[in-house]
Amino acid sequence: MTRTVVVTGGGTGIGLAVAAAFAAEDAHVFITGRREAVLSKARAELGDRVSTVVCDATDPVQIEVLRDRLPGQVDVLVNNAGGNRELDAAAGRLGAVGLGGQPGQGPDDLAALAAAWRANIDANLLSAVLTTAGLSRRLASGGAVVHIGSFAADRGAGSYGAAKAALNSWNLFLSRQLGARDITSNVVAPGYIADTEFFGDRGSEEFHNARVAETMVGRAGYPDDIAGVVRFLASPAARHITAQVINVNGGAVPTR
Ligand SMILES: NC(=O)c1ccc[n+]([C@@H]2O[C@H](COP(=O)([O-])OP(=O)(O)OC[C@H]3O[C@@H](n4cnc5c(N)ncnc54)[C@H](OP(=O)(O)O)[C@@H]3O)[C@@H](O)[C@H]2O)c1
Repeated sequence: MTRTVVVTGGGTGIGLAVAAAFAAEDAHVFITGRREAVLSKARAELGDRVSTVVCDATDPVQIEVLRDRLPGQVDVLVNNAGGNRELDAAAGRLGAVGLGGQPGQGPDDLAALAAAWRANIDANLLSAVLTTAGLSRRLASGGAVVHIGSFAADRGAGSYGAAKAALNSWNLFLSRQLGARDITSNVVAPGYIADTEFFGDRGSEEFHNARVAETMVGRAGYPDDIAGVVRFLASPAARHITAQVINVNGGAVPTR
């Protein structure tokens, strides 16, 4: 049976690799994002099994539009849209919301601090909450929801890390609700993943080497490393895995 898969933020990086993995199994994949040109380019790359919907996952109205574009049944939802809005602001990509969440900089401007925190909570937590709620009635029994978290949740990474930690916490609540409908819900928490737009212009060789040095395997992660785990979690072999955070970080953050 052909599965219907929704990947938020599916036009670049990890989301694009996840979309490619599901398209390769002949699923009908819907990718979303805020930039139409990026989505069109991804569709041209991935082929006819992929449909695009411009949708800001933090906007309830746009999620309703997305829902209206989808078929009656969604088998897999991948809440991948997100990013560190503090990095984006520092790079001037989203306007100056301020770096008040960073230690040592001091929250002199509380309005800027509030905006910075709200931006990351919206981008990384509310985006997943709203998309899941908006599509909830469409989610099929036997299906899977996968959220892309981050190892930042365990590393004291300001508002971004706090938002991803909240995602882990909310996943426990969600997985109990969805479990009653035979739907799994898990977080995949990547470590440093190269070949994405996440770091913008910060991706110098020195920066890359420092991230690689934190791993036990001596290499960066790549979007396909995450896509393979997401696809596994949405496979028949993973039906007894739910309410978990699966860390994919090359050993940068060991667990016991
Ligand atoms: N790269 C890493 O090292 C790393 C590590 C840990 C976790 N992560 C997480 O992995 C996920 C994917 O990031 P990535 O590394 O692949 O970076 P990326 O290339 O920047 O991908 C993020 C994608 O999400 C989309 N997006 C962002 N905000 C959105 C919104 N409000 N609504 C809809 N789409 C939105 C972006 O497209 P538009 O701008 O066009 O909307 C973009 O296609 C994120 O949740 C990120 O936090 C990444």
